[in-house]
Amino acid sequence: MDNPTLGIYVVAAIIPLFLFFRSLFGSSSLRSIPTVGGPSAPLLSYIGSYRFLHHARAMLQEGYDKYKGGMFKIPLPDRWIVVVTGSRLVDDLQKFPDDHVSFLEAAADLTHINHIFGDEAHHNPLHLTVIRQQLTRQLVTLFPDVRDEISTAFQELIPAKENEWTPINATSVIRQIVARASNRVFVGVPLCRDPGYLDLTVNFAVDVGKARTVLTLSPFFLKS
Ligand SMILES: *[C@@H]1O[C@H](CO)[C@@H](O)[C@H](O)[C@H]1NC(C)=O
Repeated sequence: MDNPTLGIYVVAAIIPLFLFFRSLFGSSSLRSIPTVGGPSAPLLSYIGSYRFLHHARAMLQEGYDKYKGGMFKIPLPDRWIVVVTGSRLVDDLQKFPDDHVSFLEAAADLTHINHIFGDEAHHNPLHLTVIRQQLTRQLVTLFPDVRDEISTAFQELIPAKENEWTPINATSVIRQIVARASNRVFVGVPLCRDPGYLDLTVNFAVDVGKARTVLTLSPFFLKS
């Protein structure tokens, strides 16, 4: 193909076809679950996933009212969320062993942890042990430091004046305070107050959020 524009058109035409056939012949167990919030046909389900961004509560309520005691599904840009309702189904779900339904696997899947942090973070989650054991056991000892950091950060970033209002940017100030308080525990003073270091940690969390959004909107065959 000499003409690069033609190539783009061909690819653009193949992707919807591919998605269409995949959904026709793909997971049939999902197809038997009713959809809430829009059409479930391939590509058209994006309408529902867009609605979910702004009307999540109404869509969940609609599904609950219509299918109480049963199941329904809601489209996200890259997957379906299946909601089970009623005590009987919730009990059933709860009885499944971890190798059948797993909260950690679902969370990893939703957050795309293996693409963002690498497989290691998912399969060998040593941070969980550190948080559950070392960190949790030390909380009583660590608390005075955290309290001190929060108080110092508030005084520095939201200085109270006698008779005046001080405008602040709440998003950025709260991010700084949270980063300082948690890093007081992880790296201590003075690094937890270092502007360069704080910038790095705050932006890392924000960038992970952005990466997740990009991955959610990327077609599955670019991710596997
Ligand atoms: C407040 O801070 C956030 C995060 O740094 C930034 O995105 C936003 O533009 C700021 N808002 C204003 C009004 O400066």
